Amino acid sequence: MLSTKCKVFILALCVSVVCVVLNRETYSGLSQTLLEYTSPPLDSRVCACQKCLSEESDPWFTKNFNQSVQPFLTKKYSTPENAFNWWKRLQHDGSSFTSYTEVVDKLFEIIPDKDHNTQPRPDKCRSCAVVGNSRNLRGSHYGALIDSHDIIIRINRGPTQGYETDVGARTTHRVMYPESAMDLGNTTHLVLFPFKTMDLRWLVSVLTTGTFTMKSYTAVTAKIKANKDLVMVLSPAFIKYIHEVWLDNPAHTYPSTGFMTVVLSLHMCDEVSVFGFGVDRDGNWSHYFEELRNKNLKTGPHHGQDEYKVIQQLSDLHKIQMHKGW
Ligand SMILES: *[C@@H]1O[C@H](CO)[C@@H](O)[C@H](O)[C@H]1NC(C)=O
Ligand SMILES: *[C@@H]1O[C@H](CO)[C@@H](O)[C@H](O)[C@H]1NC(C)=O
Ligand SMILES: *[C@@H]1O[C@H](CO)[C@@H](O)[C@H](O)[C@H]1NC(C)=O
Repeated sequence: MLSTKCKVFILALCVSVVCVVLNRETYSGLSQTLLEYTSPPLDSRVCACQKCLSEESDPWFTKNFNQSVQPFLTKKYSTPENAFNWWKRLQHDGSSFTSYTEVVDKLFEIIPDKDHNTQPRPDKCRSCAVVGNSRNLRGSHYGALIDSHDIIIRINRGPTQGYETDVGARTTHRVMYPESAMDLGNTTHLVLFPFKTMDLRWLVSVLTTGTFTMKSYTAVTAKIKANKDLVMVLSPAFIKYIHEVWLDNPAHTYPSTGFMTVVLSLHMCDEVSVFGFGVDRDGNWSHYFEELRNKNLKTGPHHGQDEYKVIQQLSDLHKIQMHKGW
């Protein structure tokens, strides 16, 4: 029989060997085990991860990251009129503030009005995978790594079925807007990014009667499968914060869905890994789930260069970990 001391020594040896072989940052289960021996007492820490992205910050990050801006709409954190007036111009929404607040009230008759645990807690480590739709996921074999995170946020219609080896199978949150909507499993949070009052009207309808016909730049589905108890709606004031604070650019455009999802993850998570962003190995911008159609998929109406710089800076500061794929 080995003595306990000896077993501990062997275990420690194994762990360090594994750590050298694997990338320690990405195996949070293992980091958790190590954490018990190396971290200060729980009550002095912001979160239970080895490193919490909201602590020990550099001045640029601290200047931008404002934890008192609430990402999701609740009755308590309703939209201030000035934020509504900024937001309604994004897609030329002619609605009044009164009609907007009426739709929001109606929505909270259907979806729960709750705090979505967006603050870090000393007893929790919220590790997140933000999964974009870039073709650089093809052949990446990231599936198991992506699935090992607590929170897995996917964007628009990026499928998992048939692509599990590269993109994983679990989805805890799916970001969408009416024009990109799809059916969800019963345990997936629908995270609506609204760009106009009609988007909220659409949400009320798809979760209930399905009778609202939405006219938009593309066909919009009238009915989807989703668990209404898990619906979350990004706050227009949060979109304004992303645009004005993180991009700091008074241009007439607004941030891309992918960029907004990354900033949102800073507010929902203590560790962020980003997958499926950027170009593929040929330098083409395209999706992993379809053949290349459009070489200008890159920026749309958004400021791609500014967004790229911010994401690069977050990565340089180790606030997010970029996985560039193949
Ligand atoms: C952070 O956001 C809150 C709520 O929107 C705002 O009142 C406050 O001024 C912001 N803080 C900074 C430093 O910008
Ligand atoms: C979906 O989840 C809800 C709880 O959020 C539960 O009440 C319901 O029975 C589930 N439906 C199915 C089909 O599993
Ligand atoms: C990627 O871009 C290159 C150069 O623009 C092009 O030749 C190639 O066909 C593209 N790849 C695919 C898969 O279409």
